[in-house]
Formats: sequence, structure tokens, C-alpha cells
Amino acid sequence: MFRLNENYLKLPGSYLFSTINRKVSAYGAAHPDKRIIRLGIGDVTQPLAPAIIEALHGAVEEMGHQETFRGYAPDLGYEFLRNAIAENDYKDRGCDISADEIFVSDGAKCDSGNIQEIFSLDNRIAVCDPVYPVYVDSNVMAGRTGTYDQKSETWSNVIYMPCVAENGFAPKLPGETPDIIYLCFPNNPTGAVITKAQLQEWVDYACRVGAVIIYDAAYEAYISQADIPRSIYECQGARTCAIELRSFSKNAGFTGVRLGFTVVPKDLKCGGVSLHSLWARRHGTKYNGAPYIVQRAGEAVYSPEGKKQLRAQVAYYMENARYILDGLKAAGYTVSGGVNAPYIWLKVPKGMTSWEFFDYLLEEVNVVGTPGSGFGPSGEGYFRLTAFGSRENTVEAVERIKTAGI
Ligand code: MLT
Repeated sequence: MFRLNENYLKLPGSYLFSTINRKVSAYGAAHPDKRIIRLGIGDVTQPLAPAIIEALHGAVEEMGHQETFRGYAPDLGYEFLRNAIAENDYKDRGCDISADEIFVSDGAKCDSGNIQEIFSLDNRIAVCDPVYPVYVDSNVMAGRTGTYDQKSETWSNVIYMPCVAENGFAPKLPGETPDIIYLCFPNNPTGAVITKAQLQEWVDYACRVGAVIIYDAAYEAYISQADIPRSIYECQGARTCAIELRSFSKNAGFTGVRLGFTVVPKDLKCGGVSLHSLWARRHGTKYNGAPYIVQRAGEAVYSPEGKKQLRAQVAYYMENARYILDGLKAAGYTVSGGVNAPYIWLKVPKGMTSWEFFDYLLEEVNVVGTPGSGFGPSGEGYFRLTAFGSRENTVEAVERIKTAGI
């Protein structure tokens, strides 16, 4: 008789954004007259840039002709895209990453969930707290996290690195030594960033203790300050200790198109075994490549026109971020993030939990955000708003929150 992977049964509740969706849908069904504004999940709202649409049309046309039709994509991605990434995201920024160290995929969410497969189940992970839930949940599914404590909402075999107001929402080096360290900067959910010198400390630490860093840089396009690194490979030694995850979702609006990539440098080894070859083996076995059409769209992200249009799109969202940040500050909220990231992290009014504030905003002013506690215990008492809404909705949501009071 078949048996289940019991690790799945250990997962508490459902995935954060599914829970939110369910709650919002139930409220919407009961109050069809209300116009709900969603600033919860970090999903983009602006249409794809013209340069990307043009590339998509061109690629669709190619697929309709015998001479230019393409079947399976190469497992690791088309060279035209890997070259564009290596050139623009790495070489132009002084990072030593070559095209054959880039693995194209259908998005950073899958990669961030799948990457743990190449590590031993005995490995101990360290995560920021609060944290993007996929890192922990995917390790729970694999059976790497020990037992769950309902009261503290923590796993016994996970090292939590609190990111709280006192440390500027940036983790300190952990007291216990981890094997795998997940870092995400600009941070989801807090919108915090760290300087290159701070990131260098993490790289030095990982090299010293023999840990690997899984660096999620999905939001790098939102960095506006010069001393904030856009890639971990800006740091000395990162080629021997870090894997980087990137996404086209947030910098180019591909949440519904699906494209991302993972960088595994060839110098990253464990006992002489290259992680690059393990990830290539995994990719080749379990993945048949992102669609040609989508990879051509990804290439257009790096064209001069594409770059210009996407800079404008990022600026549009960051103007929303500024509007939320200033509006909520003026209303008396304690807010952070929103300067190098499309997320605004706010302290909920006294006496409310994150979920109580979620219900309050939903019911009183029909605005949806994300409860901080959904990202981990240190997120309790906080709330995340995204800058990915339309300008009109963002302005209205801020006005509504102001009228709700604090
Ligand atoms: C978020 O809202 O945290 C993100 O949009 C989720 C994701 O990128 O998967």
C-alpha cells in the first residue's frame, strides 16, 4: 500500500498567499459591493514593456515556420539568453560569472524551493526571520527541519536569524553554525538591504565555516543606493560559497510569463564535487527548459529599448513605494523598506496582531496586505504592503488606511 511523504503533513496551515486569497475571496463573496484593493502578494500590475511584447511576437512568428520552429529548449537555457545575462548582470558590474554558470528556469520560486535537493538531509539551514516562506517550507517537505513547536512557531532544526527594528532588519551572524544560509536582499518581506561590506562579512563567514549561501536577489532592480550590492558575486570569495537566484518577475513584470535563473559557479565545491555538475544533473533530469518564446522575451530585457522601458517601470513602482512610505509616515505609522525595495514594512497599531490588523484593514477599508507573522515569528506585530499596485489603487489604499486611523 502506498504511503505518503509524511513531511508534508508537518506543514502548518496552507501556503501564506493561499490563505490570504481564501480569506479575501470569502470576504469579497460576502460583500460584492466593496472594491477591494490588493497590496498583498507582490504581483506586478503594469503591462509587459513594448520591447518584450515585440520579442514575444517575433518568437511566436518563428515558431510558426518550418525553418525557425524550435522544439525542446536546451536544459540549461539558450545561449543567446545566458550570454545576455552574463554580459549585463555580471560582466558589466565587475562580477566574474560566465554564461555556462547560468541555469535558466521558469522562475525563482521553483529554484528557491528546488535547490535544497542537492544538499544532504543532515544539513542545517539558517534563515532570516521573517523570511520568504518557500525556503523553510521546501526544507520541511524534504524532512530537514526537525519538529515544529506550535507555541514559538519554529522548527527545531532551523537556525532563525531575527531581523528586527533593533538590527535594522538585517540579520547578525548566527550563534550556531549552519550548513546552508538563505539570504534575500533587497529583502522580502521587510524591504531592508545590506551594504557590500556587510555582505562581504557573510561571504567571509560562509567560507570560514564551510557553509553555502543561497542568495536570492530577485529584487535587485529596485536598488537605488550606490553602496548596495546587486549580486553576491560583487564580494571576494563568493564564487566558492554562494549560489544566486534571480527572477524576471519583478524587474520585467514576468510573474505571468515565468522566467528566472540560478547561478552556480564552477568553483563552488563540496569535497571536490562541483555543485554546478549536480545542479546540471538535476536540471537535465527534471526540467525541459523554459519556452523559446519566453527566453526571447527575456533577451529583450537586456536590449537598449528594453532596459529603458524597464527602468521606467521600476521607477513607477518605486514612486508607489514612496507614496506609501510618506503617506503612512504622515499618518503616524512606523514604516521601513520601500527605498531599495518594492515592499513597505510597517508596525501594526498597538494591541493588534498582524492577522488582526489584516482583518481590520480588509473589513474596515477593504485593503489587503500581508501579515508579518506569516513570514515568521519575528514578523509578528508587522505588516507588509507592496508597491506593485497601480498608481490609482496605491493612492486610494493609502488614503483609506489614513482614514482608518492608527
Ligand atoms: C511575495 O509576495 O512575497 C512574492 O510575490 C511571492 C513570490 O514571488 O513568489
